[in-house]
Amino acid sequence: MSPTQVVIFGASGDLTSRKLIPALASLVGKGLPPEGLRVIGVSRRPKTDEAWRQELREAIPKELADAFEKLAPHLGYEAGDVQSDDDLARLKARLDALPGGESTGRLFYLSLKPELFAPAVARLCTAGLLPRQREDEREAWRRVVVEKPFGHDLQSAQQLNAELHAHLREFQIFRIDHYLGKETVQNLLGFRFHNAIFEPVWNRQHVELVQITVAEELGMEGGRGGYYDTTGALRDMVQNHMLQVLALVTMEPPSSLDAEAVRAQKVALLRSLRAPTGREVIESSVRARYAPGSVRGKDVPGYLQEDGVPDDSSTETYVAIRAEIENWRWAGVPILLRHGKRLPKRFTEVQVQFRTPPLQLFNRPEGMDDDEYRRALREGRLCERRPNVLTLSLQPHESITLSFGVKRPGNAMNMAPAELRFDYRDAFGETSAPAYERLLLDALRGDPTLFIRSDEIEACWRFADAYTRAWKSGEVPMHEHAAGSWGPSEADTLFYGCEGSWSTGE
Ligand code: BG6
Repeated sequence: MSPTQVVIFGASGDLTSRKLIPALASLVGKGLPPEGLRVIGVSRRPKTDEAWRQELREAIPKELADAFEKLAPHLGYEAGDVQSDDDLARLKARLDALPGGESTGRLFYLSLKPELFAPAVARLCTAGLLPRQREDEREAWRRVVVEKPFGHDLQSAQQLNAELHAHLREFQIFRIDHYLGKETVQNLLGFRFHNAIFEPVWNRQHVELVQITVAEELGMEGGRGGYYDTTGALRDMVQNHMLQVLALVTMEPPSSLDAEAVRAQKVALLRSLRAPTGREVIESSVRARYAPGSVRGKDVPGYLQEDGVPDDSSTETYVAIRAEIENWRWAGVPILLRHGKRLPKRFTEVQVQFRTPPLQLFNRPEGMDDDEYRRALREGRLCERRPNVLTLSLQPHESITLSFGVKRPGNAMNMAPAELRFDYRDAFGETSAPAYERLLLDALRGDPTLFIRSDEIEACWRFADAYTRAWKSGEVPMHEHAAGSWGPSEADTLFYGCEGSWSTGE
């Protein structure tokens, strides 16, 4: 890698010590030469380079301790405020004086409050640290990584895009979504477009429904309640991470793995997501918050009792949506999305449920008359599970399972459920690299494939806004469910017209 300077704004924050520095240390441990790398942390509190290194050293996971020591001499700290021209001038003088100076590539990581994203970029630009570049300026490249949330609705995202584009070209802006750094999320593309056998059945003719779940045990740990209450489940998880997963599962094949080819297909898909009318939102979404309960045997407070959450909060911690994709491949196929905090267990999963054969021949209990048999079939009572479901488990288990039916040995023609299963850990032994590692490396290499383009983020907000707008009108009730339960039973009604139920990640 050519000499590079990484400047982290928000260096005293949690993200820096828990994710960014461990990711850089891990990259060094895997062979990224630390010699050409300079990492400067910037935060308001004054401290020495050594004091910052020591803080980071104390937070680094044991298995990265050796790699961290290789990186440590290349870490430096600069006290400063991104809103102060003087501080930025001092930072520039320091960066220019480092080996390679102005001719090195520079990555500015904004781990800041969202309201500072646009002012920070404007100031960095005025300070001469982050100029607008031509695409062919390969040597002294300048890029910025912007953390989430990118806006809080379509209008604010459009405005933020406009403010960033006033100073930078799109290829200099890396909007992060850490789900795209997950190995299993990237595998959605690999699995679909490397294997020829699934693609022919990946459409409305063969798929009955698609179900995406992000279930979490976590509540408002770490004093997060105050922030979370301004966001809620829809904007915290669905608008970004879940729509990214949805796009990868349902988009058309790209013509190459080129960043623009992949992102163009994602945008096309996200734009074909129907933004429901107010009436449709009432029928196609369920929201709730958790009440006191217990998760894995531990009593936990309800959302309204969490620190920082106002008594009159109207923020959801659970959301279930039945979405529709309006294109030829998916029209009419229910796309069921569900996310909640304080559910019984943590898992992220995509299920593609295939249609049943047009004529059911099997599993007829002895003595059951025709009418009863048909009713039992319709109600799904004769299958312990839909025969063909492809389950892509993204975390914490990383696996792919295809279920099917086999004849149960015996004199009757009864079918039993069976499955083919692939497990990442069994196959490759090691656990996947943390998401930030891959994303930081790609930002350093200048590969934006796994980052969100401006039009993509706007398409996601267009969809999410339709729900928040309708919810505000108060016509979609706020349900409560006990912490540690699977959410309100009202969410089951979203399966209307098709057979199936919410996965419990078994
Ligand atoms: C973050 C959300 O973006 O993603 C959190 O703000 C959530 O609320 C987290 O817990 C989930 O990430 P992961 O990687 O643990 O699934």
